[in-house]
Amino acid sequence: MTAFPSRPGVPRTTLTTHFPPSPLESWDEIGHRLGVRLLVKRDDLLPFPLAGNKVRKLTRELAARAVTTGDVLITSGGVDSNHCRTAALLGARLGIDVDLVLHSRAGNAAQDRLSVRVARALGAAVHVVSAAEMPDCIDALHKLRIDSGKTVHVVPGGCHTKAGVEAYADAAGELLDQIGTAPDAVVLASGTGATQAGLVAGLARAGCRTRVIGISVARPADRGCAAVREALAWSSDDTQTPIEFLDSFVDGGYGCASDATRDTVRRAWRLGLPLDSTYTGKAFRGLTELTLTEAIPRGATVVFWHTGGLMNQLVE
Ligand SMILES: Cc1ncc(COP(=O)(O)O)c(C=O)c1O
Repeated sequence: MTAFPSRPGVPRTTLTTHFPPSPLESWDEIGHRLGVRLLVKRDDLLPFPLAGNKVRKLTRELAARAVTTGDVLITSGGVDSNHCRTAALLGARLGIDVDLVLHSRAGNAAQDRLSVRVARALGAAVHVVSAAEMPDCIDALHKLRIDSGKTVHVVPGGCHTKAGVEAYADAAGELLDQIGTAPDAVVLASGTGATQAGLVAGLARAGCRTRVIGISVARPADRGCAAVREALAWSSDDTQTPIEFLDSFVDGGYGCASDATRDTVRRAWRLGLPLDSTYTGKAFRGLTELTLTEAIPRGATVVFWHTGGLMNQLVE
C-alpha cells in the first residue's frame, strides 16, 4: 500500500475525553435466574477496540497532561496489560511515541504473545523485563527520551491516577442519566482500585446510597480496600462510605482462574455476554454468588459494570 503522506505539525486526530455513553443493557433472563434486575454497563464497547475501562482513565490522564503529537509516553504493566495496549492505541491515534515496559516471567517467549504483537503493530516500543527490572528500565528510558529533547510522560501502571478516578466519577453520572434512579448495587472487577474509587465518588456526589462492590482480581481485601480508600481521597473528602472490596474470587492470584470462574465465562459467552477469566469472569462469578447467597438481596437492581479485558480471553 502507498505510504500515507506525513504532515509535520498536523495532529492525527483530536484527543477526546467525551464519548457517547457506553450501552446500558438489560439482561432479563440471567437477572431472573439470579432473582435481581440485572443491567450491564458495557464499557467493553467503548469506541476503542479491546480497551475497556482504560479508555476512560487514559484519555482523561492524557488530556490532564496536555500531551501532544511528538511527546513520549512511558508506561508499564503485565505482559497482557489492557492499560498498556490502550496506551499503544491512543499513542498511535495521537502521534505519540509509546514505550511499554512489560513484565513477564516467560522471558523472550513473551515477545510472541498476541498482546505484545498487537502493541507492536500499533507502533509501540515494547520492552519485556522481569518485575524486578521494571523501575530501572523505566528510569533508563525516561533519561534516554529526555536527552533526545522530547517531552516525556511517565504514567503509572493501570493509570492509577487522580484523572483515572475522576473519569469514573463522571462515568457514574453517565450511568445515572441512563438508569434514572440509583441502582442498589454496582459490581465490578477491581484491581488497582481507581475505577471502583471513581464510581464510589461519583455515586456519593450524586447523593446515591448505591453499594459499589469491587471483586478483587488479585489483591487481598485489606490491601485492596486501602488502595480504593487512597484513590478515593484524590478526588473526594468522603471518608464515610464503606468500601466493599471482596477477595473471595481471586482464584489464587492475578491471571489464575478456577474451574468455577472458567465455567462462568463459558456460560456467559454462550448467552452472548463475552467475559474474560482475568477480570470480568471473576467479577461476574462474584455477582452470581452474592445474589444466590442473598448478600445482594432478591429484587435488587444490580449493575454489572463490564470493564472490558476481552483480549485476555483471546490470548488464552
Ligand atoms: C479489564 C479490566 N477490568 C478491571 C480492571 C481493574 O481496574 P482498576 O485497576 O481501576 O481497579 C482492569 C485493570 O487492569 C482491567 O484491565
